[in-house]
Amino acid sequence: MGAECKCNCEQDKSLDALFAQNKGNPNGLIVVMAAIQESQGYLPKDYLVKTAEELGVPLSDVYGVATFYAAFSLRPRGRHSVNLCLGTACYVKGAPEVQAMLEKEMGIKAGNTTEDRRFSLDLVRCLGACGIAPVLTVNGEVYPRMSSDKVSEIIAKYE
Ligand code: FES
Repeated sequence: MGAECKCNCEQDKSLDALFAQNKGNPNGLIVVMAAIQESQGYLPKDYLVKTAEELGVPLSDVYGVATFYAAFSLRPRGRHSVNLCLGTACYVKGAPEVQAMLEKEMGIKAGNTTEDRRFSLDLVRCLGACGIAPVLTVNGEVYPRMSSDKVSEIIAKYE
């Protein structure tokens, strides 16, 4: 972080300012964690330890918040968030074949992030759009009636 950051980047300076503003203030926890998530793309362990120390919140509480909210991630995330629905309707209409092709094209298993941090691939339960199953989303953009032969073309759109 600030003192440890070799590049002296603006992002870490703004985080340091946020830590200073919220020193000893447990009510600032979500705001600080959201800022870390945004600047780092996830919640690195050393940042969570610093958050606990600076705000005076038990580290277990910080982890509790980190794991409770879907917006927070304890692992590095890809630039593009790919979610494939594996709910019943999507499953019976071929989502497993789409999953297999996504995993092959990305070179990862679902639940992981590519080494170049380009994609995170996650499986989700019913997105409430069963009429257009199987459903894939990329950064929230919906791809209806997915099939494995559409996978290459779709992921090529996201650099
Ligand atoms: S099961 Fe996939 S959208 Fe409902």
